[in-house]
Amino acid sequence: MLRRVDHVALAVSDLNASIEHYQRVWGLTLSHREVVAEQGVEEAMFRLGDTYLQLVAPLDADTPVGRFIQRRGEGLHHIAYEVDGIEAALATAREHDLVLIDKEPRRGSRNTRVAFVHPRTNHGVLVELVEIPHN
Ligand code: CO
Repeated sequence: MLRRVDHVALAVSDLNASIEHYQRVWGLTLSHREVVAEQGVEEAMFRLGDTYLQLVAPLDADTPVGRFIQRRGEGLHHIAYEVDGIEAALATAREHDLVLIDKEPRRGSRNTRVAFVHPRTNHGVLVELVEIPHN
């Protein structure tokens, strides 16, 4: 079902400052940066082995990530797992009575299709399912 960790996502309030931090302190190289307006965020991705570290910054305070940072501060936001078929993964989550944030897949960055599963029924961890286009 879950094939690999696609990315670990950290909520940050200042994307430029955080990118600079991960480059200067931890020696990472930025591989991708994209505004995902539908999710109210700008994302930055650093390749790390066969996965990514993702920084997500809110486009404004009144967005899910903006409210997350107001409530809990910066920090670990979600873990994203690659799946082969996102509809099948969502159906499995539904069969197990998990609370879904997305009933249908939506567009993620890098032309992926993604869906979020609520932390309440997943032992406290917000999970993003990611289907990567192969073409
Ligand atoms: Co993500």
